Amino acid sequence: MTSPRVTTERSVTVAGRRHSAEPDWWRRAVIYQVYLRSFADGNGDGIGDLEGLRSRLPYLADLGVDALWITPWYPSPMADGGYDVADYRDVDSLFGTLDDVARLLAEAHERHLRLLVDIVPNHTSAAHPWFRAALEAPPGSTERARYLFRDGCGPDGSEPPNNWVSAFGGPAWTRVTESNGHPGQWYLHLFAPEQPDLDWSNPEVRADFELTLRFWFDLGIDGFRIDVAMSLIKDPALPDLDRPDPVLDGPSRWADGHPYYDRDAVHEVWRSWRRIADTYDPPRTFVGEVALTSPNRLAAYVRQDELHTVFNFDFLKSPWEASAIREAVDATRSALDPVGSPSTWVLSNHDEPRHTTRFGFPDTGWRHPLLPDQGEPDLVLGTRRARAAALLLLALPGGAYIYQGEELGLWQVRDLPDDLLQDPTFRRSGHVIRGRDGCRVPMPWEGERPPFGFGPEGSQPWLPQPADWRAYTVAAESETRASMLELYREALRLRRSEAPLRSERFDWCDSPGGTLVFERGEGFTCAVNLSSRPLALPADRVTILRSDDTAGAGLAPDTAEWFRLPTP
Ligand code: BGC
Repeated sequence: MTSPRVTTERSVTVAGRRHSAEPDWWRRAVIYQVYLRSFADGNGDGIGDLEGLRSRLPYLADLGVDALWITPWYPSPMADGGYDVADYRDVDSLFGTLDDVARLLAEAHERHLRLLVDIVPNHTSAAHPWFRAALEAPPGSTERARYLFRDGCGPDGSEPPNNWVSAFGGPAWTRVTESNGHPGQWYLHLFAPEQPDLDWSNPEVRADFELTLRFWFDLGIDGFRIDVAMSLIKDPALPDLDRPDPVLDGPSRWADGHPYYDRDAVHEVWRSWRRIADTYDPPRTFVGEVALTSPNRLAAYVRQDELHTVFNFDFLKSPWEASAIREAVDATRSALDPVGSPSTWVLSNHDEPRHTTRFGFPDTGWRHPLLPDQGEPDLVLGTRRARAAALLLLALPGGAYIYQGEELGLWQVRDLPDDLLQDPTFRRSGHVIRGRDGCRVPMPWEGERPPFGFGPEGSQPWLPQPADWRAYTVAAESETRASMLELYREALRLRRSEAPLRSERFDWCDSPGGTLVFERGEGFTCAVNLSSRPLALPADRVTILRSDDTAGAGLAPDTAEWFRLPTP
């Protein structure tokens, strides 16, 4: 690990002055997710980097978001797009250097953008020095005790220690060859074999992560998005599962007492992290990736002395149906309100099919639209719904996340050539599930042909961009009043300027089946029509923003409107 070569005092001071006025900024922040590899390529190697991101900060500031969540930038063999970390306290040369981070931070803070970065505590990369040392060391050694090495089952240990499966397919265990050349112990990896799970009952593991937190906090990072925050602690007996479900298989199938999922002891880790975050001025912030069965279990992660916020997967995975969305909103609010944590609302991220595509299928529920036999999505319909969903997302009380490109209405690229797919899911599912690459295609910024300003002219993005994206570049959409980008810009501007949207008030209004109507105070109302019939709205309302540009008394199917009612 190298030390930072630049001082960040200035940015920390800038941040401190600005932030101390708003210590609770995360309660209603709009956070923009930067999937770094695909955001902007500053050096022309086809891969997004910190220099590219820095050059696009004016765009993000102008868009009107409050903070950025940046996916992992650490040195990594990229077996899982950087979620396989070889050194937690440095930057991969693909993305830049620690100096680049410091520059990015200073410039982001000057533009009033806070930075959260991903941290991956459940597993390291197999290239991490700890794991290399564990492979060299014998069974029972302190080096192996940082991970979950176990003898295999069966007379010669040739069966895995239990029946757990990897989130990406195949067994969750891999057998190593010992230094004598013979097959030896097995190690656990809930994800790819290149991502060995750490043993969080080992104090050395805990202490090292605390150093990592301090390292980035000292540099001025405003907080972390915590990867797989519910699975760090394993039942030491490592028992077989009745039904070995993969970790990423949806939020609804785990019961309490699962051997690696949502175990009570994980909360001690978050309490100790919170204590560290609170020693900083301004205090640093955490958002946890906690995919859970019940919003009530979720609430435990955001108690006053734990994480600040968690992602809301119930909302993300809701079909385009009023009752399902209302249920997700209510369940989330009633679970989180008692612990005083704001809800967060997310429609897409780098692991999920883009919602423009999802909403264009006849069945809009969450699934992998990249499985075979799903037919073609109706992207006109999907886009219309995505526009309405944007107004819903940004009118709900609490925080909201925007995944890069969602503001342009980008869709899931479903026809990437097989040989370019990098997501380990594709290989490990026997080439059945095409995986997550289709939502990670590099951003189109400007111009008539690829790379659409993602990198310098003539450079080749790591995944090919559809030629049709010429009409979806930031430049093209900035010139079209009715574009998705202009809708997001306007909604974000209003979210800042409309006092009711800054309040905590929220009340459902009576409305016909298939519709969602709620008030945020002072007569500010959001109506979303998910039914197939027009929704009549009050004639005396004042329209603030609509998701489509048809005028009229009623709200057309799959559209939304913000309006104000005259106060009596
Ligand atoms: C991240 C994924 C990653 C996995 C393993 C997650 O939930 O969002 O992109 O593959 O953790 O680190």
